[in-house]
Amino acid sequence: MENPILYGPFIELITMHGLPLHGSLKDEELPVINSGGIVVEEGVVIDTGDYHDLSAKYHSADKFLNDGEPLVATPAFVDCHTHICWAGDRSHDYALRVAGKSYLEIAKAGGGIMDTVLSTRAASQSELAEVILERTEKLLEQGIAIIEVKSGYGLDHENELKMLRAIKEANSKTPALLIPTFLGAHIKPKDFKGTHAEYLAELINKTIPVIKEEELADRADIFVEEGAFDMDISRAYAETLREQGFEMTMHVDQFHPGGAELAIELDCVSADHLETTNDETIMKFRNSDTVAVALPGASLGLGMQYTPCRKLLDNDACVAIATDWNPGSAPMGDLLVQASLIGAAEKLSISETLAAITFRAAQALRIDAGVIHNGARAGVAVFKTDSHRKIFYNQGQLKPAYTIINNECIEH
Ligand code: NIG
Ligand code: FE
Repeated sequence: MENPILYGPFIELITMHGLPLHGSLKDEELPVINSGGIVVEEGVVIDTGDYHDLSAKYHSADKFLNDGEPLVATPAFVDCHTHICWAGDRSHDYALRVAGKSYLEIAKAGGGIMDTVLSTRAASQSELAEVILERTEKLLEQGIAIIEVKSGYGLDHENELKMLRAIKEANSKTPALLIPTFLGAHIKPKDFKGTHAEYLAELINKTIPVIKEEELADRADIFVEEGAFDMDISRAYAETLREQGFEMTMHVDQFHPGGAELAIELDCVSADHLETTNDETIMKFRNSDTVAVALPGASLGLGMQYTPCRKLLDNDACVAIATDWNPGSAPMGDLLVQASLIGAAEKLSISETLAAITFRAAQALRIDAGVIHNGARAGVAVFKTDSHRKIFYNQGQLKPAYTIINNECIEH
């Protein structure tokens, strides 16, 4: 049995414990322990509270971080939507977009996602694992301990499996937790000669059995959009994969509304993007467990409006924010910058923004994380500052000095 570790003291320890999954949050509701401490044993939080009380109670504990500087602790962050497994770059697309071509026009002309598919097919599994680990390292430096990673740039049997195997390989080599999602239904690749339905049938009949056998993913995603997959096909695909035991999430309402309603109707774990979601659909999130995931990196990358987070929260949605880190629409990969920017634009309280990148983002992945409480696996972001307000006030430029994951305290 390892000695317990006492972390602290924290001028503010923000646990996020006890906050509701749905709806708006006032800053007065934020659970803050002043002069707080956290006790971790075998990678699990066993106590939180006043630092001095804890140091008397656990007098033989190893003590960490006690160096006299003001520190603020929050739960480690969760990035619940990324595409960090890719090779190549899309600066050419970027140049075309800022010169006036739209994302969908570029895709139609054979650029966009298909461009990244060709580079990703040319990379080996270990090369992909390597780039995932480099990007994971950058996310870890922002205090992100849990990262969802999608396939979706292989778009044939072998290459989709290669991507998922690369994600699994990378997961075994990092202290962060990588959660894989099968996005074989990103688009129908240009070189597939059949129909959209035939393409998806091949994924279902050929690729899904291997994914299940090798336990490569138990979540799946589909891009519901003009030029990707229409509503009827998406519905049938989601229903089939659900029967096969997969949790479903969807890219919806990025350029045209409609898909979000489908995601809610099918009770998907999350509906992601939502830049064009209309008021009628926003109201449907009220009694839904489908998490609304905003992706400000894509709004910034494509020069589009933000997801209507304020309206969603006022309609009692569970709202998460993620980076969507990918080579096309969202190449930044900085969750703290993006959360700060959408928070300012959408008038989100600090509690709402923090919730959206901690326990509400964990809910999009249906995992218990993003909260500091007894019995939870340790995941803590520690900032050298005297107030949690300064994290978003500094527009994401204040990064954590340490991230605690399980038994490890990583200094950045
Ligand atoms: O979430 N919209 C679809 N998929 C990604 C972009 C993928 C790409 O452009 O490479 C997104 O924005
Ligand atoms: Fe995405």
